[in-house]
Amino acid sequence: MKHETLEKNATLLLIFSFLVVTIGGLVQIVPLFYLQNTIENVEGMRPYSPLELAGRNVYIREGCYVCHSQMIRPFRDEVERYGHYSLAAESQYDHPFQWGSKRTGPDLARVGNKYSDDWHKEHLANPRNVVPESIMPGYAFLLDKEVDVKAYGKHLAALNLTVNNGKGAMYRPEDIENAQADMIAQATGENAEGLLERYPKALARNFDNDPRITEMDALIAYLQMLGTLVDTAAFTPELSR
Ligand code: HEC
Repeated sequence: MKHETLEKNATLLLIFSFLVVTIGGLVQIVPLFYLQNTIENVEGMRPYSPLELAGRNVYIREGCYVCHSQMIRPFRDEVERYGHYSLAAESQYDHPFQWGSKRTGPDLARVGNKYSDDWHKEHLANPRNVVPESIMPGYAFLLDKEVDVKAYGKHLAALNLTVNNGKGAMYRPEDIENAQADMIAQATGENAEGLLERYPKALARNFDNDPRITEMDALIAYLQMLGTLVDTAAFTPELSR
């Protein structure tokens, strides 16, 4: 047996063990240095607008991710139910990402434009109003909680710091300067030209029929844009069997 020499000689065994661990380590670690190269840019992706971001913050605060995933896997059943599988680039501006790990409710990665604003308002206030058998909790208090509009310029600036240690800024100086105006424009639908220039495809309207800018506006604005930025019709899904 050739092993025998190796197993009976402690020094030799140590040297060879070290070699094996080194090679194994390199195989696992080296690809991580090239991770940036594997992220492809996909047309249509942009950072969240201030109002969408406020909605996303409500989503995280209320723990919606505990029951909902935002990640459509490339399997036939998922693609047929939810639409095109999620692309890596679609989570590009999510810090932290909202893939989730459990589906008590359905995946929400492409829930945008699936229902009307009124449906969402009704459903979030009390899910049983529209889906009698639903076990989802109600969030009617969002209708009365106003968003701290003034805080969002700083919020965008803070998010810039989280990306690449502040080197790969997500938001441009003009985005930060106009954060407050953009949020008001999006929640009212008035003077939205600047907003649409900075955030193409942003939906600008009063989402909850209340003149105030509430967390309900923000959350619905967020839900209505999920999965709508990339033109998935331009992709051919490759289904795995
Ligand atoms: C306890 C688990 C639970 C939590 C927490 C939860 N949901 Fe749900 N959600 C469900 C279930 C179950 C359904 C399916 C029944 C229904 O439509 O109400 C659902 C359905 C939905 C739908 C409709 C999806 C579709 O495609 O029909 C949306 C949108 C939604 N939830 C958003 C939210 C948001 C936003 C939050 C956080 C504010 C949230 N959910 C929190 C369980 C949950």
